[in-house]
Amino acid sequence: MLLSHGEIESFVDQTGFNETRVFNRLNRLIQTYWEEQRSGTPVDYKTPFELLDELELDSGLGEQNWNELFTWVEKYLKFAVKTGHPRFVNRMWSAANLPSIVGEIVSAISNTSACTYESAPVSTLIEKFMINEMLDLVGFSGGEGQMTTGSSNANMIAMMAARDKVNLEIKQKGLSQHPQLYAFVGAESHYSMDKAAAILGIGTDHLLKVPLNENGEMDTARLQGEIEQTERNGGIPFFVGATAGTTVRGAYDSLPALIELQKNHPFWLHVDGAWGGSAVLSPYLKKRFLRAIEKVDSFTFDFHKMPGTNLICNILLINKQSGVLRQSCAVGDTSYIFRDESKEEEFNLGTTSLQCGRKVDSLKWFLDWKFYGRDGFALRIERYLQLAGFSERIVEETPELEMVVPRESFNVCFRYKVPLGIPENEFNLQLRTRLHREGIGLIGFGYIGSDLCLRLLITDPGATEESIRSLFRDIVNTGNSLLEAL
Ligand SMILES: Cc1ncc(COP(=O)(O)O)c(C=O)c1O
Repeated sequence: MLLSHGEIESFVDQTGFNETRVFNRLNRLIQTYWEEQRSGTPVDYKTPFELLDELELDSGLGEQNWNELFTWVEKYLKFAVKTGHPRFVNRMWSAANLPSIVGEIVSAISNTSACTYESAPVSTLIEKFMINEMLDLVGFSGGEGQMTTGSSNANMIAMMAARDKVNLEIKQKGLSQHPQLYAFVGAESHYSMDKAAAILGIGTDHLLKVPLNENGEMDTARLQGEIEQTERNGGIPFFVGATAGTTVRGAYDSLPALIELQKNHPFWLHVDGAWGGSAVLSPYLKKRFLRAIEKVDSFTFDFHKMPGTNLICNILLINKQSGVLRQSCAVGDTSYIFRDESKEEEFNLGTTSLQCGRKVDSLKWFLDWKFYGRDGFALRIERYLQLAGFSERIVEETPELEMVVPRESFNVCFRYKVPLGIPENEFNLQLRTRLHREGIGLIGFGYIGSDLCLRLLITDPGATEESIRSLFRDIVNTGNSLLEAL
């Protein structure tokens, strides 16, 4: 029997399940998941076809039965990757911080869009407060910022602001009649830069990839040469995207050198700190990795990566200028949504954003910030660096393993050494797959030049020297048995 409208409204189903039971059941499920996430294997691996069979996604529809509904939740959690497991070292994040999970649940239940003050009063003030905290932390003055949907989009918005700074009319007239614009990034910069160039009409051919020095940093002498060549050819070098912590290697471009170059070439200097930008949270690491960050034009970093706030939590900060975000992002007739009588534009954050609906990401961030404080985050990031150093030493001391490149910061790029005649890349890829499929561990990989490396990233506040040592032990044992089977 189907529920009447009134029954649907009160969420009572034919089995007598009501809201109280829904919340109790949900609470039990998520609490159990949370408590058990560090045990067992990090994933119960199934191929997509096996998993489809298990899930039976096409069964039951419109039954309005809470027991059924919770079996879906149970299935979801059973096959979800346990990102809080000590053997999940694959991505740039792990399980989220509990204060931020509280924030995420509260944002979900109070379901609104952070586009206007009218629809999200507290979130608006929190976001503005947090952006000011970050501007202060980074050392930007007279600037502004916003939360975006991730560093990929933040990189694009920064490139767009740089484009519009060259000529605001591009927004209206496009680029077809405009002198050619060129952007520059390091050869191992993130692919979101290519996306940005494509989306903004700059064109990926106009995104020049600058060769790196042996440490994986953009070679500034080569950059200078390419900028000058571009200028001689009548192009406009409008944007340089430095990376603070490259995705595979963890290299930091030298900001002082780029700022020096900027004196003679007025490009916009943006820093993509999606991954390694979290160093800004520690005064010691800020000095070590982000020297002169307070002088760049814009900076983005993800609180959902090393700091551990629930995904997605990203910040884009602009230095010394205010109103840039609104100038670049606002376009078209928005009167239906931004019709706030108070005319307090600065409190309608949607006008500074590319989105119309904006998920409330500020609360979880704020709760994390209040809970751990700057010092708590600083200690966490410093500890990750210490553990990365520990991991590198294990690799160096283990005869079966080798570093592919020396460690630059938080990324440990290593591989299993194979005897001559066995293709290294193929073997290491197989090793990674076996670790995953057998539930031993999920580890990332990437290429440096043509060399495949296993990439260890530690973003788990519960990681210890012992948990890392045991992971390497299992990697070596699995590599040994793979080798024996060849
Ligand atoms: C250097 C760098 N930039 C940008 C990104 C993209 O970040 P997001 O996933 O927040 O879009 C990443 C993610 O891996 C990254 O490593």
